[in-house]
Amino acid sequence: MSKIIQFTDVTLRDGEQTPGVSFSVREKTTVASLLEKLGVNCIEAGFASASASDMEAIDKIARQAKSNTTVCSLARCKVEDIDAAARALAHASKPKIHMIIGCSDIHLKYKFGTTPEEMLRRIKSIISYGASTGMQIQFSAEDATRTDREFLRTVYLTALEAGADIINITDTVGYCLPHEYEDLVRNVRSWVGDDVLLSVHCHNDLGLATANSLAGIRGGADIVECTLNAMGERAGNASLEEVAIAMRVRADLMDYKDTIKAKHIYPICKAVATYSGLSVGHNKPIVGDNCFTHQSGIHQNSVLKNPSTYELFNPGLIGRTSGGELMLSKLSGRHGFEERLKELGHELAKEELDDAFTRFMALAEFRKTVSDKEISAIAQSYTSKVNHTYVLKNYQSISGSNAITTATVNIGMPGGDVLKAAAGDGPVDAIFRAIEEATGFSMKLRSFDVKGVDEGKDSLCEVRLIMEKDGRRFIGRGISADMIAASAHAYMNALNRAVQVVESFKEITSYE
Ligand code: KIV
Ligand code: ZN
Repeated sequence: MSKIIQFTDVTLRDGEQTPGVSFSVREKTTVASLLEKLGVNCIEAGFASASASDMEAIDKIARQAKSNTTVCSLARCKVEDIDAAARALAHASKPKIHMIIGCSDIHLKYKFGTTPEEMLRRIKSIISYGASTGMQIQFSAEDATRTDREFLRTVYLTALEAGADIINITDTVGYCLPHEYEDLVRNVRSWVGDDVLLSVHCHNDLGLATANSLAGIRGGADIVECTLNAMGERAGNASLEEVAIAMRVRADLMDYKDTIKAKHIYPICKAVATYSGLSVGHNKPIVGDNCFTHQSGIHQNSVLKNPSTYELFNPGLIGRTSGGELMLSKLSGRHGFEERLKELGHELAKEELDDAFTRFMALAEFRKTVSDKEISAIAQSYTSKVNHTYVLKNYQSISGSNAITTATVNIGMPGGDVLKAAAGDGPVDAIFRAIEEATGFSMKLRSFDVKGVDEGKDSLCEVRLIMEKDGRRFIGRGISADMIAASAHAYMNALNRAVQVVESFKEITSYE
């Protein structure tokens, strides 16, 4: 019988460590529901002690998860982190605490200034403490692949003896080559025996994360940790969609089973791209726009005769369709709009539905048809809303070849509405300056991208920008038929994310 490989998704934790990304609690709970639909076995939902919003998101995901889904929080090997994780996971049917500490020479020397003996003592006592919660304990020796093999063996055996249930073999800086990683996992299996669950966690610094994850599975791992769209620190993590599809396409060489329902891959990757604000590269394997596009005439001719000539798998496998998109019009009515929202996987509250329907009708009135992409963009603008500290209530912008460009904004703030005007170097600059004047919250603009949600000059417009505050980057996204309004909404979205993080970190400082 084929071995079952479990998928742990770490998009909401390692994926959120992608520079600029900071999911709101609602975005996290929405992605978690989609991950369950996708069929992952475990959701690493965040790092409970890192911020109050992570704590809240893990708690909510733990409460909403089905009884067979494991929900996990990361924790450093510290009592306060374990306590925070246990609190956040209190309502999970299957809670898991993922405990981590750096064990390579480099980490011992530069991060901890400690000796191997002292590190072993610390692991022993802190894992025992974690195990006393009664929750499943996963132990990661961070930077495992650059850790002395004999020391790594002692570390893992110490952790298991102290009560760890799962050993996660981390290629933290994406250092390993595939044959080397397979060999390491095989070695670890020989040290720990057949009954211990082994997990693999690979980063993509050398572009080998997917290859290494597959090699780790061949070496005897039971669990593979991945993110969607390969999000993650630096060059990212192993991509769930790549690993899962490679296992299907090359089932001839990889005789394994898993619980992933591949047809949900494309929709969830699209949703995560929206919520994270990070668009997927055109040539990103599996989900990039170009994956099923053929440029050369020879390829096009052959694909028309038989797609398998140049397509490795049918796009339908991952829920991609080519053409045939449904269009709604104003005649579709409220019922048609609501049904389509449901089919596209969006859940909105009653007031949001009312507002979304008004926006849909305004668009449909002006144009003849509204596409699925535009309907999704409207719906996702509600899920992407961060708990609004600042709300853009109205704006006005004046520009022209002989006019001084100015913008006026009315911002709803905790202390009441504030009206401000500013002149600027173009209408976008003017409105950003006016918002800054009104809120008194200044950030640096690091990048600004604008594109149509769909084809056609009357398509909705999407603005994504990256703002920086105190060295941290925040992605903001705005959608509107008007580019200036989309820019202003994107700015407000990034600003509210920044405020949420700043406030959340303030709270955790007092909690500690
Ligand atoms: O890459 C890494 O080492 C990690 C750990 C927290 C597991 O993400
Ligand atoms: Zn990682």
